[in-house]
Amino acid sequence: MERVGGLEARAFANPRADRTARFRPEQAAVINARAVHAAHAEISRWPGYAPTPLVSLPALAREAGVAQVWCKNEGLRFGLGSFKAMGGSYAVLRHLVEHLRTSGHAVTSADLIADRFRERTAAITVTSATDGNHGRSVAWGAQLFGCRCVIYMHAGVSVGRVRAIEAFGADVVRVQGNYDDSVRVCADDARRLGRQVISDTAYPGYTDIPRTVMHGYGVMVEETLTQMPAGVRPTHLFVQGGCGGFAAAIHGRFWELWGADRPRLTVVEPVRADCVYRSGEAGHPVAVRGGLETVMGGLACGEVSMVAWPILDVGTDVFMAIGDDWAIRAMQRLAAGPSGDLKIVAGEAGAAGVGGLMASVATESIRRIIGLDDHSRVLTIISEGATDEEVYRTIVGRTPTDVIAA
Ligand SMILES: Cc1ncc(COP(=O)(O)O)c(C=O)c1O
Repeated sequence: MERVGGLEARAFANPRADRTARFRPEQAAVINARAVHAAHAEISRWPGYAPTPLVSLPALAREAGVAQVWCKNEGLRFGLGSFKAMGGSYAVLRHLVEHLRTSGHAVTSADLIADRFRERTAAITVTSATDGNHGRSVAWGAQLFGCRCVIYMHAGVSVGRVRAIEAFGADVVRVQGNYDDSVRVCADDARRLGRQVISDTAYPGYTDIPRTVMHGYGVMVEETLTQMPAGVRPTHLFVQGGCGGFAAAIHGRFWELWGADRPRLTVVEPVRADCVYRSGEAGHPVAVRGGLETVMGGLACGEVSMVAWPILDVGTDVFMAIGDDWAIRAMQRLAAGPSGDLKIVAGEAGAAGVGGLMASVATESIRRIIGLDDHSRVLTIISEGATDEEVYRTIVGRTPTDVIAA
């Protein structure tokens, strides 16, 4: 496996960050309490729902010289292995409910799960491009709610991740090129064949569904609020960036809730797939071209989601890019769990937030930019578990089962 960027780490303070700025209507149009509460009420009724754990890692906090590190472990989400389980599937459900409503049928998720409208839903095909986790969520949602599904995956996505999607009954189409190429082929085929695109990234003329996907992600914040010790808030948030939807959903909710007291957001990306970072430098969305090579597969996006940008533009405090070895170190550190820290199975993209924290404390200039000190309370999200067990074993040297058993 080629590692890109080694232990490189770069970061800069966002010159447009405005911590006193109100959460404005253009941001609330993307994510807001009402939409997230609706998603939470819906998703928490699905079979297999359980809040993912929020784990305190005191030894990691000591090593980092901060007061506290919390990791929310999305590897345990719905047995799908990532937070994405709540985004694409939720958007599939909303699409089916809306489609049936316009043909005169008021249906609930329970009706669809019980196959009461199968004849109608089986005629609908949802589709998406993915580098793994989003497609898994769409395919799972299609299976759960009873419609057809076609998923597009670029050449760099591992065979294990293709198999995982096929296991949910979806057809998989392989596409030459990178993630953004697969997005375009998917959109062209959907137009031609009358399929509904369920994408986690927004582009001109296509924004409603990516917003709905982000509402599903917002459930993580609702859970975190009840899991944090009463009256305690994180001061810093490290969230990994692909197209930026994840970071914008999480941070948008904290911003709406806590205003200027929200945690300081660092968006962490791979050095060669740093579209949020580059957009932060330019002051407007810019695309990163090329192969977007990184072991952090879920983050290999070259274009910022246009609905995420209004939140990240002013809401991001620090933009950061890290080499693959930081993600790998974070995976190994989380699996080892020294000095009594709980052992956590984190996938390559999943560990990137912790990798960003480790890179920041190893680089004094970055630590200062982020403003970490011994009073800091850091919240990170392990956004995926071992979504490809073979890749995980190659990197960590043990299987996920062995890590947990140890
Ligand atoms: C595990 C994981 N973490 C983080 C992300 C980033 O999410 P977004 O593309 O919404 O920024 C992804 C995206 O696929 C992912 O799979």
